[in-house]
Amino acid sequence: MTSNVLIIGGGIIGLAIAIELKLRGAKVTLVSQNFQTAATHAAAGMLAPSAEKISHKAMLELCQRSLSSYSDWTHKLETFTGLNTGYWSCGILTPVLEERGREGERERGREGESNPPILPSSSPSYWLDRETIHQYQSGLGEDAIGGWWYPEDAQVDNRALAQAMLAAAKSLGVEIKEGVAVEGIQQQQRLVVGVQTNAGVIQAEHYVLATGAWSNAVFPLPVRPRKGQMLSVRVPKNEPDLPLTRVLFGEEIYIVPRRDGRIIIGATIEDVGFTPNNTPAGIQSLLQKAIRLYPQLQHYPIEELWWGFRPATADELPILGTSPCENLTFAVGHYRNGILLAPITAALIADLILEQKSDPLLSHFHYSRFHTKSSTTSMLTLPTPPLPTTPPPPLPLQDTPLQIAGKTFNSRLMTGTGKYRNIEEMQQSVVASDCQIVTVAVRRVQTNAPGHEGLAEALDWSKIWMLPNTAGCHTAEEAIRVARLGREMAKLLGQEDNNFVKLEVIPDSKYLLPDPIGTLQAAEQLVKEGFAVLPYINADPILAQRLEEVGCATVMPLASPIGSGQGLKTTANIQIIIENANVPVVVDAGIGTPSEAAQAMEMGADALLINSAIALSQNPPAMARAMNLASVAGRLAYLAGRMPLKNYASASSPLTGTVN
Ligand code: GLY
Repeated sequence: MTSNVLIIGGGIIGLAIAIELKLRGAKVTLVSQNFQTAATHAAAGMLAPSAEKISHKAMLELCQRSLSSYSDWTHKLETFTGLNTGYWSCGILTPVLEERGREGERERGREGESNPPILPSSSPSYWLDRETIHQYQSGLGEDAIGGWWYPEDAQVDNRALAQAMLAAAKSLGVEIKEGVAVEGIQQQQRLVVGVQTNAGVIQAEHYVLATGAWSNAVFPLPVRPRKGQMLSVRVPKNEPDLPLTRVLFGEEIYIVPRRDGRIIIGATIEDVGFTPNNTPAGIQSLLQKAIRLYPQLQHYPIEELWWGFRPATADELPILGTSPCENLTFAVGHYRNGILLAPITAALIADLILEQKSDPLLSHFHYSRFHTKSSTTSMLTLPTPPLPTTPPPPLPLQDTPLQIAGKTFNSRLMTGTGKYRNIEEMQQSVVASDCQIVTVAVRRVQTNAPGHEGLAEALDWSKIWMLPNTAGCHTAEEAIRVARLGREMAKLLGQEDNNFVKLEVIPDSKYLLPDPIGTLQAAEQLVKEGFAVLPYINADPILAQRLEEVGCATVMPLASPIGSGQGLKTTANIQIIIENANVPVVVDAGIGTPSEAAQAMEMGADALLINSAIALSQNPPAMARAMNLASVAGRLAYLAGRMPLKNYASASSPLTGTVN
């Protein structure tokens, strides 16, 4: 039995798993950067599979199983800790407002029918017509023309619950480490061997990733933050009774009354990354909708404003269960339902880790669902050059293949995956370029930026060496963190021994020029951590030398600004770098045409990295082929040695022996 488990993440999911594992006899450590920033703290605490209109069958079953255990689960916690969790089986009313009237009519079918046809739910639900709903819930806005009543949906005071869970975890003997920032997961041969943190490396037998919206900063998973802004008001003391004793759930708004007179109003749904703070627009829209639904709120004092980041996956379903590493389990991406799903997640994950028992439901939430088979790479239909009738004779030239950090490559052209109009063009271009190294922006894969979804399947990673790059990193620290993630990404693609990183530390977004000091600092650290570092630099010969001295595997001077297509503007400096380097010099950025590519190779560059000039051309696969030919031609020309330059014309035919 696994006895020593490290939980990464101190939100409700991490805490629930920690408690469950501990209760079943495991030794458990939990690390959290900050309990207060977890979505758990920001949530409203609704337990609402019906009101949330969950229609995915397996998800609905997961939610309903969790809901049915909630009362017992919280009761046990309360008994154990003596703390209240605010669990309240209050039901949820979802009023339908005027302009949705017709849709509401369609949804409800025959008036008075008790089960809405849109929900494959086994929970009871009742349609209340206009008169009934206003009788049932006084104070509703005039626009409410009816609504559904879901008596089994409930709520819990998420903050009180988190406090109780933390207390329970502590008194059960879970070792809790707060203030620990996880920087990366170290793995070898599909086993996690440690977790790198700001407090050093932490090791365990088994690891659980429960890092919510922050998950893909630790492991490459398609989880993104989806911000929600919220506020609370308080029922004035002079009101004798609570005006609301059930949750009101409207269109893009919910109002959650607590027993102590606090009323939570939520929540916006914003795709703005980790942008913090409340905004006037966000709060205004919440207030407008809340007051329309329940007008008397407008008089209640505002108590608090806050925001949080829901962990959203691409299909808005959680990622639960086994991972690519044998001793790592995923429990992330609960999106809008983390509070609700905590008990069932904890039970299923504990079964899986401690008893190797995999509930059939887990198969619906496996991470591999995001690795769907891509359409087969369409074959390139370039006009192929006519084959010579006889093969060209071997050239009296000796070339050695490109060697970077002990690895050999036959192609001297590297390409990228960014800026293509579509993934097919990218695939065709990579094939046409005949390259063996493709650089991938780790951050864009993490955020599923356009063109970066499904990269795992888009290319044949058994033939192409991935060069993770740290594009988008402004500081050395960020770049180091992203480099570590890149290494994990390569491992996920089956490149266990891939320790390459194209280091980019670019503080400004206008000129996209690399920071020489940050680059050197990051390079030093990454070399120490065993990376083969390929730093992207301005064409600065001294910096190139310093980077070589600290152990970089190549240097990658820019020809001109990234993506500018301005061609070779730094020729003189690149020439000096080439003359002095003992590591491969890869000319990167700015090359716009094959003639420029050939020119860089003629100068003696060891390789080229070209992305925009291919991706932004009119016909990327054709341009990719052209760049391939140019790099080969330029290399051959370099090896052949150019003719000497002369100041004056020199006739091609000898003049001696001519007849005057
Ligand atoms: N569970 C409600 C929300 O995420 O806003």
